[in-house]
Amino acid sequence: MAEMHVIAAEPLRAAMRLVVQGCGSSDAEAAAVADNLVEANLTGHDSHGIGMLPRYVNAVREGGLKVNAHVRTVLDAGALLRLDGNAGFGQVVGAEAMALGIERARQLGCTIVALGHAHHLGRIGAWAEQAVAAGLISLHFVNVIARPIVAPFGGAKAGFGTNPFTAGVPLKGRPPMILDFATSVIAQGKTRVAHNKGVPVPEGCLIDEQGRATTDPRWTVVPPWGALLTFGQHKGSGLAVLCELLGGALAAGLAGHGEDGSKQRVLNGMLTVLVDPRALHGSEAWEAAAEDFVASLLRIAPREGHEQVLLAGDPERRTRAERLASGLPVDPTTWRQILDAAASVGVAPSLVQRTAGLA
Ligand SMILES: NC(=O)c1ccc[n+]([C@@H]2O[C@H](COP(=O)([O-])OP(=O)(O)OC[C@H]3O[C@@H](n4cnc5c(N)ncnc54)[C@H](O)[C@@H]3O)[C@@H](O)[C@H]2O)c1
Repeated sequence: MAEMHVIAAEPLRAAMRLVVQGCGSSDAEAAAVADNLVEANLTGHDSHGIGMLPRYVNAVREGGLKVNAHVRTVLDAGALLRLDGNAGFGQVVGAEAMALGIERARQLGCTIVALGHAHHLGRIGAWAEQAVAAGLISLHFVNVIARPIVAPFGGAKAGFGTNPFTAGVPLKGRPPMILDFATSVIAQGKTRVAHNKGVPVPEGCLIDEQGRATTDPRWTVVPPWGALLTFGQHKGSGLAVLCELLGGALAAGLAGHGEDGSKQRVLNGMLTVLVDPRALHGSEAWEAAAEDFVASLLRIAPREGHEQVLLAGDPERRTRAERLASGLPVDPTTWRQILDAAASVGVAPSLVQRTAGLA
């Protein structure tokens, strides 16, 4: 495996801002995109971090991703909000959609926010964290409008995207639960990262173009295309289909997948359910019950091969602390792709390199 670059978070953010500004984004938009991508790397989800930037740049150049776009309210019916992301950066329209939903849930106790036509919303956990920071519980059902890459249970061919499901629950006396995963066994970006690093993916994640099991990540990175499998057999496949029905058909009015794999644009549809737990329960009793339950869970002794029982969200917080202290590893292929993307929008690769603190 090629040697990794190790870059500290702040210079990496500054370098990524330069590339986004090169696309024509305002300073605020460039900061939102760079912060969100670097945050994904900090939490250990390199698949949704700065490695996405070359694809975003290509999508802007193709006209499929609109810079400086904002959400538009299509329907405002009390606890129901339907928003159009205008094909803007998901890092901007996602945050705007959440802010509108949070404000409404604080007034009414709950809200359902349907966001359609948003460009890639990145790590969906970021949106759960925004809700949890406001004291709210949030559930997110997300679909992916791009070439289908995940096969339904029992199918030999892809039928939908990696359709993430995410939930955030604020907890008293400890950090929140942030459950955030793709419904494919592994996220697609993880196959790109493996392909860039030249390493296989674990068994049970992929099928080739004939529907045969394989560990070669090429099958979802370069044509001819194979497919990812869903996690949890028929159960994960069912959740993926639910994400398509709720995040896609209901929230975005888009559940079909074109076969054209040549375009770089990725749209997400997201149905978010926000609940104010205090409005629902009216007392602090639920907080105490949740706190007791989580404490009892974390006291359970680990079984062989495991260090300890963790709550979802804890692994990301650990990785974040480690990477803030020791820097973010970036593989050379990903870094080269970022420098090429910078050059394609008139930003000197040497400036990006210097800003990131690399000689
Ligand atoms: N925008 C999109 O189109 C899109 C599509 C797919 C995935 N994604 C994002 O990709 C990211 C990665 O998804 P993934 O499926 O690779 O995630 P993953 O398989 O790493 O699972 C992550 C979840 O599992 C929890 N977890 C991990 N280890 C644990 C342990 N030992 N004990 C308890 N909980 C544990 C984590 O806290 C987290 O909630 C997510 O942020 C997701 O939102 C985005």
